[in-house]
Amino acid sequence: MSDEIPSYPVGDLTGQSPPIDWSAPVKVDVSFVKGKTILVTGGASGIGAGFCKRWASYGANIIMGDISVAAGEDLIRGLRQSTGNPNHHFVEVDISNWESQVRFFQEAVRLSPTGAIDTVVANAGVNIQSEQKFFNDPATANYLDPASVPPPPQMRTLDVNLTGTLYTAHLALWFLSKNTGPNPPENTPRDRHLLLIGSVGSVYPLISQSFYTISKHAIMGLFRVLRMTSVAVHGIRVNMICPYFVDTSLLSSRAGFLLAGGGMGAVEDVVQAGSVFVSRPDIVGRAVFVGPRLATRVCQSENSVGDMPEIHSLSDIAIGPLDEGHAKALIQEGDDGVVQERAIWEIYSTDFQNVDVFTKRMVRLVNAYGAARGWSGYFMDMFTSVKKVMWGLIRR
Ligand SMILES: NC(=O)c1ccc[n+]([C@@H]2O[C@H](COP(=O)([O-])OP(=O)(O)OC[C@H]3O[C@@H](n4cnc5c(N)ncnc54)[C@H](O)[C@@H]3O)[C@@H](O)[C@H]2O)c1
Repeated sequence: MSDEIPSYPVGDLTGQSPPIDWSAPVKVDVSFVKGKTILVTGGASGIGAGFCKRWASYGANIIMGDISVAAGEDLIRGLRQSTGNPNHHFVEVDISNWESQVRFFQEAVRLSPTGAIDTVVANAGVNIQSEQKFFNDPATANYLDPASVPPPPQMRTLDVNLTGTLYTAHLALWFLSKNTGPNPPENTPRDRHLLLIGSVGSVYPLISQSFYTISKHAIMGLFRVLRMTSVAVHGIRVNMICPYFVDTSLLSSRAGFLLAGGGMGAVEDVVQAGSVFVSRPDIVGRAVFVGPRLATRVCQSENSVGDMPEIHSLSDIAIGPLDEGHAKALIQEGDDGVVQERAIWEIYSTDFQNVDVFTKRMVRLVNAYGAARGWSGYFMDMFTSVKKVMWGLIRR
C-alpha cells in the first residue's frame, strides 16, 4: 500500500464551480435573466428592494414577499410602471410562519407566467437589539426580582433569520425541483438557483449581536451543507452573499454611531454580486463578502488567503473609486503589486482543505484513517450497518 495520504476533491465531486476572480468586473448575463421568475423574500426595502429593481430592469418577473405590505405593494406598483411588465407581484408573507411561506410559494407558482420558479432569494432578515441585550445581560432588566429567575428570552431574530430562512430553503428545494420545463428564451436546460443572504456576521462574531451572529453563522452552515448536495441531488445551484454593514433600515442608529468612520458596504455592490450569481448558471457553490469599495495594492505572499491582500500599512489601501490619483498614489509606493478597486471578495476560495489549519489537519487525519483501514474497514462498517438494520426489523 502506498504511504501517500489521498485527498478527495470534494468541490469537483459535488459540482462546484471554481473561485471567481472578482478583481476585475465580472460579467452579468442580462439576457439570461429575461423571462425568469425570481422569488425574493424581504424585498420591500433595502438590499431586497435593490435586487427586485435591478432584475425587473433585466426583464425578470419579480414575485416579492414581505411582512411590510404598504412598502411591498408600492415597490411592485413602481416596477410595473417602470418596466411595463404586469408579471411583478407582491404577496404578504411572514417567513417565520410555515403556512404563510407555503402560501407565498404556491402563489408564486400560480402567478408566474411560466408556472415555475427559477431563482429563490432568501433575503428577509431582522436584527432586534432589545432581545439580544436582555439575553446577553439579563441583570440589566431592572424590572426583575433579583430573587427570581428571568423569563425565557424572546428570540424573534432567530425565528425570522434562522427558522424562517430554513423554511425558505426547504420550500425552495421542493418548488425549484419541480421546475422541469425548458429554459426561456433559448430552450437551454432549466436553471434552478437558491441565493442565500448571510452577513459579515456569518464569518465574524459581531460583539453583543448574539442572535444575529448565531443566525447568520447558521446560514453559512446551511450554505456549506447545501452546496455539497443540492446540485448533485436536486440539480439546484446554491450561492451566498455576506454583506458587510450596509445603510438600510436593518442597521440601528446606534450601530451607525458605533461604525462611524469605518465605512460601509453599498446596496449597489450587493446587488451587483447577486446579479452575477442570478445570471450565470455556470457559477455554483460560491460565497462572497461584499464590503466597502476600496482600492488596494495586492501583494501575494505565502500568508495570503485566496485573493485577499495582506495590508501592511495605510499606504496599501485607498478609498474608492479608483481614480488616477488613488492608483498613482498606491503604485508610487514602489513595489510590483497590482492595484485594484473592488467591493466583492470570495470567501471560501481555497476550501475545503484550506479553510483553516484545524479543518485541514482534521481532514488529513480522517483521510489517513480511512486509507489505513482500507477495504476491510469499509466492509466492516457496512456489515455493522446491515446488522443494525436487521436487528431493527427483527425487533419490530
Ligand atoms: N444592512 C446590513 O448592514 C446588512 C449586513 C449584512 C447582511 N444583511 C442582510 O441583508 C438582508 C436584507 O436586509 P436589509 O439590510 O436590506 O434590511 P431591511 O430592513 O431594509 O430589509 C429587510 C426586509 O425584510 C422584511 N422582513 C422582516 N421580517 C420579515 C418576516 N418575518 N417575513 C417577511 N419579511 C420580513 C422587512 O420588512 C424588510 O423589508 C437581511 O438578511 C440582513 O440580515 C444586512
